[in-house]
Amino acid sequence: MTHASTRFPDGFLWGASTAAHQIEGNNINSDWWRKEHSGTDQVQEPSLDACDSYHRWHQDMDLLAELGFTDYRFSIEWARIEPAEGRFSGAEIAHYRRMVEGAIARGLRPMVTLHHFTVPQWFEDRGGWTAEGAVELFARYVTACAPVIGEGVPYVCTINEPNMISVMAGLAKSGNVGFPPAGLPAPDDETTEAVIAAHHAAAKAVKAIDPAIQVGWTIANQVYQALPGAEEVTAAYRHPREDIFIEAARGDDWIGVQSYTRTKIGPEGPMPAPEDVERTLTQWEYYPAAVGHALRHTAEVVGPGVPLIVTENGMATADDARRIDYYAGALAEVAAGIEDGLAIHGYLAWSALDNYEWGSFKPTFGLISIDPETFERTAKPSAVWLGGLGRTRELPRSAS
Ligand code: BGC
Repeated sequence: MTHASTRFPDGFLWGASTAAHQIEGNNINSDWWRKEHSGTDQVQEPSLDACDSYHRWHQDMDLLAELGFTDYRFSIEWARIEPAEGRFSGAEIAHYRRMVEGAIARGLRPMVTLHHFTVPQWFEDRGGWTAEGAVELFARYVTACAPVIGEGVPYVCTINEPNMISVMAGLAKSGNVGFPPAGLPAPDDETTEAVIAAHHAAAKAVKAIDPAIQVGWTIANQVYQALPGAEEVTAAYRHPREDIFIEAARGDDWIGVQSYTRTKIGPEGPMPAPEDVERTLTQWEYYPAAVGHALRHTAEVVGPGVPLIVTENGMATADDARRIDYYAGALAEVAAGIEDGLAIHGYLAWSALDNYEWGSFKPTFGLISIDPETFERTAKPSAVWLGGLGRTRELPRSAS
């Protein structure tokens, strides 16, 4: 069966995403750097130079633009911009401004994430998100980013995956510092409340810089699927891990949808995927349809008037042909959503580069590989394929 294709709606974002700590290298003032060097066995290896994108960002952007992408989502690092409380680095602000201008010069619209999991060590030392004054400190940092985002940045993400931040805070309370497993353990309610307040304060601070900037945040969607009879259990499980954060986006300009796999929920809670399913390098079930479910669920919870942007989607694999297959399946879902009238305004793959996957370099999500010694970048066939769709401006409607 062939369904030809679906045209990108006007202005559709077509890109790839990264996060500062995962690609820059030597982010030495951040809480994650400290975790990586604390001797814990919950972090397999440290990020060290990562992809050296702090110095080589122009190579990353050159490649993405050449491949056919029109949008690039990257994050700026609070721990660099404010390495000590109240001390802002003009040099780092200038560095990120050069990145914004570099993106624009290459025809890549920048989407700037202000916070992607890492905080400065001093912020962690004073108690993190739930400490008194944390929200105001974050808003002050956002205001200090005016020179970076003040011109030519159409989209700003305040906080990436606040729900994962809350889950990681819950994990930390039980002595765990790693990245959470799919399905997600219990979030920390106080952290949830704090990051929602931080999002609203940051959105206000961004609008004060320029009201035309489109502000949103990006939510991790686990695609919880209820087994028959477990609908209520699923809704109760999902609300503190997902819906509460989507509801908090109701007044926003857009919402970011990030999905990778699914989690089935039975009467007792999350069920492990059967032994015989295909798994990715993160051990998640290979499930390209995830993004379709995530988009539909988000639209239902956030309600009309808040456009959806897929801000992360992809798989960790050493087999790039599987990655193409995954993206083809995912894009058919995106196309179906657009045809059904969902306000989907863009698609950004995770990730542009093979990067530091919060504890290890082994799960390779990248469209572009990195030589760990020379840092040489090589576009994989999946990058050529996905980027090329940016030239035809057509989404494959159905893979078969
Ligand atoms: C995060 C990324 C991460 C990816 C794959 C998302 O949770 O935003 O930083 O690398 O998923 O695990």
